Amino acid sequence: MNNFQNILEHIARDIELVKDRGTVASYIPELAHVDKNKFGMHLIDAQGNHYGTGDSEEGFSIQSISKVLSLSQAFAIMGDKLWERVDVEPSGDPFNHLSLLELEHGIPRNPLINAGALVIADVLISHLENPKADFLAYVRKMANDENINYDMDVAASESKTGYTNYAAANLLKSYGNIKNDVDDVLDFYFHQCSLKMSCRQLTEVFYIFMNRGKCRRGNAFLNINQVKRVNAIMLTCGFYDEAGEFAFEVGLPGKSGVGGGIVALLPNQFCIATWSPGLNVKGNSKLGMIALEQFTTQTGLSIF
Ligand code: DON
Repeated sequence: MNNFQNILEHIARDIELVKDRGTVASYIPELAHVDKNKFGMHLIDAQGNHYGTGDSEEGFSIQSISKVLSLSQAFAIMGDKLWERVDVEPSGDPFNHLSLLELEHGIPRNPLINAGALVIADVLISHLENPKADFLAYVRKMANDENINYDMDVAASESKTGYTNYAAANLLKSYGNIKNDVDDVLDFYFHQCSLKMSCRQLTEVFYIFMNRGKCRRGNAFLNINQVKRVNAIMLTCGFYDEAGEFAFEVGLPGKSGVGGGIVALLPNQFCIATWSPGLNVKGNSKLGMIALEQFTTQTGLSIF
């Protein structure tokens, strides 16, 4: 058996012993039903070999992880003009805070906090003919996987309770940084967040960020410089007010979601995803962070 497979299985066994598994997100009611005991971990290497353990092939709500994918599509369309609408500084704030947005006149700190992702959603709506269908097609093409879908129940659940996102979108609109109808932007955003994928599928989708912008079939989604920038944003902003801690503990660019997923990558070497629905107080998967810290510490593989 390959070393990666042994390491993943060893970490999964250690993780079973951790008593505090965190708290499952419930502010999106549909997410509250998920079994807290789920744990999956999956790795794809640069050659396309797969290694997985636990619930690594079970689908879950990727939530904010989708923000990297919408950013990637908007960046490919707009190039560097995109940065006129959204900044690239870590916020040091929780993902849904609005205070900086007002101070900074409607320019979100970065594309991975909710306000930034709403601006990116607006950009995509302006440029795509059928925004939700075209974005889904883009993500499916990245992974060469037609089985990736939105979870309509999760999208509907968030649209009923996403008051802070309604506030953010309206604030952005008041500053002129949303061009389309606020309800259309939110509808797109709730759908992108509802994307359902397994750890295995996430590693396939994120392969392009490990592989200089090209998917496994050699199609280019971003150029080398653009991938450098997206990975830098993941490293500095991918975990909100815990980005420093993730860089310190794990040492890889990555992104989390309140569904309990985390995806991280080492350029030119591997992409790894974890899923454990219980979150820590910063909204990042508690066991996922522990597992990834163990992985990079045990293998010595990180960008540092
Ligand atoms: O907008 C929200 O609150 C959710 N759809 C996504 C938040 C999220 O995943 C934050 N990540 N850890």
